[in-house]
Amino acid sequence: MRRQLKSLFKRNKSWADRMLAADPEFFSSLVEQQKPEYLWIGCADSRVSANQIIDLKPGEVFVHRNIANVVVHTDLNCLSVIQYAVEVLEVKHIIVCGHYGCGGIKAAFNGNELGLIDNWLRHIKDVYRTHHVEIDALETETEKLDLLCEKNVIEQVANVCHTTIVQRAWRANKDLTIHGLIYSMQDGLLKKLDAEVSETRQLNKTHTLS
Ligand code: CO
Repeated sequence: MRRQLKSLFKRNKSWADRMLAADPEFFSSLVEQQKPEYLWIGCADSRVSANQIIDLKPGEVFVHRNIANVVVHTDLNCLSVIQYAVEVLEVKHIIVCGHYGCGGIKAAFNGNELGLIDNWLRHIKDVYRTHHVEIDALETETEKLDLLCEKNVIEQVANVCHTTIVQRAWRANKDLTIHGLIYSMQDGLLKKLDAEVSETRQLNKTHTLS
């Protein structure tokens, strides 16, 4: 096992050496605490690594990733990340970032049977069901998939906003904005979607705490 990972240990050592050469305090300054301003909720896809895309160093972004960047109200993992980020780290921004060409979105759209993951992809099917008229009106499969990727981000932004964690933060007048972004692997660029929320007033009444 160790032997198979040999190249990774080698890369790790040379990375640590490079970081230290550039800044001798780099690791010691991070050991004490982290104070990131951003929580990134993105896809687990190996091509969409958060720190690399937004060019941030360790300590600057708190990250949660899963297949197709889904925020589910019964997912203790994701909810715990959001709670810790908002209440302990006090991040100012939660970014939900999807990406075009997402395998999870494609699998949900095409309905291929893949096993356990089909249950996870159900959530994407729900997004499609909500927006199918608009999506089906498009001509090519690529256009349809691209729009479903965008709609998924917008739905997940809403899910973040609807958590009691975010609502409590807004009620306490915390400075917290939820953003929806999408990444293109074609050119490496991020695009802002029409999904920026920074207060309870922007939400539908059924989804707000009284
Ligand atoms: Co993906």
